[in-house]
Amino acid sequence: MRSLIDIKDFTTEELDSLIATAKDIIANPEKYSDACRGKKLATLFFEPSTRTRLSFEAAMLELGGSVIGFSEASSSSAAKGESVADTAKMISCYADIMAMRHPKEGAPFVASLSATIPVINAGDGGHCHPTQTLADLLTISMEKGRLDNLTVGFCGDLKYGRTVHSLISALSRSKGIKLVLISPEELKIPSFVRYETIEKYGMDYEETASLEEALPKLDILYMTRIQRERFSDTYQYERLKDSYILTEEKMALAKEDTSVLHPLPRVNEISVKVDNDKRACYFKQALYGKYMRMALILKLLEEAKTPKIAPDFSGEEYIHERIECKNPRCISATEQELPKIFKITDPAANICRCVFCEEKSNYKV
Ligand code: NCD
Repeated sequence: MRSLIDIKDFTTEELDSLIATAKDIIANPEKYSDACRGKKLATLFFEPSTRTRLSFEAAMLELGGSVIGFSEASSSSAAKGESVADTAKMISCYADIMAMRHPKEGAPFVASLSATIPVINAGDGGHCHPTQTLADLLTISMEKGRLDNLTVGFCGDLKYGRTVHSLISALSRSKGIKLVLISPEELKIPSFVRYETIEKYGMDYEETASLEEALPKLDILYMTRIQRERFSDTYQYERLKDSYILTEEKMALAKEDTSVLHPLPRVNEISVKVDNDKRACYFKQALYGKYMRMALILKLLEEAKTPKIAPDFSGEEYIHERIECKNPRCISATEQELPKIFKITDPAANICRCVFCEEKSNYKV
């Protein structure tokens, strides 16, 4: 039995096979219409969502299965103080698979440790969003016919934009990817993505604050919303919220075949006039998300027939109970009695990272 917490939980071959299944579902939907008969998906959404939750639900219904769940933390026992670990154990009694979105980074991972059914991370704080990446990969594959040799611009809130983190992680395994990271200084890519993915895998990248300068080079432009809910300082949000607005005039600077992606929801960062441009792919991308979630549910339910393998934190690279995670958005800040586990990622610099949220710490201080 396996869960999907981080996009790197799947190999490149597994991602290719999910894309192939999704394409087969698009071509032959009737072949899959009964595939999950008698199975239940639980959607546990502790944070707002339209696309992700409803596309999960539509995916399960189109597979012939059924759906239970909640869409607000206030309507679950979390409001009474129930831990994520306990909630996950309970849901395991009622459903065959669960998708969880949570504002705390690492919460779905914590759920997967105590659940006895597969857990899908449907977005954890500003950390990861692997199923959005599945939608993004199918979109790129459909639009470009390949996942390699592409110049991909990420624009907007690269700090808190969890979809950006997961897509960069997936692309780190493709050849010939060039990243153009377009953001204001305050919203640059966080350290865990910069050091644990981009630099670690030697990805080619440049950083700029100018969308206009980047646009002519791009095969893909991945726009993002400034993530208001992650800012502790509302003044800073107000100052940064209109940093980038993609207009028809700016689209004139892009190549004929640049594909514009956006995980949605959009606020004002893409003018609605751009929607009519044939290069705008974001609504198709939302539809592709449903097919990839269907492929994912099929895969995880198939693998649920095999025993669960618990993660092994016993190696020398793990540090137990010596360090507290400093990230206030980490699940370890709220979940009672969660073990404190860090993984040494850069021994030369004494750097380790929280296994739940990947925040770095210095273990010699
Ligand atoms: C994204 C998310 O929740 O991170 N939305 C989505 O799942 N499609 C992006 C966002 O909220 O800006």
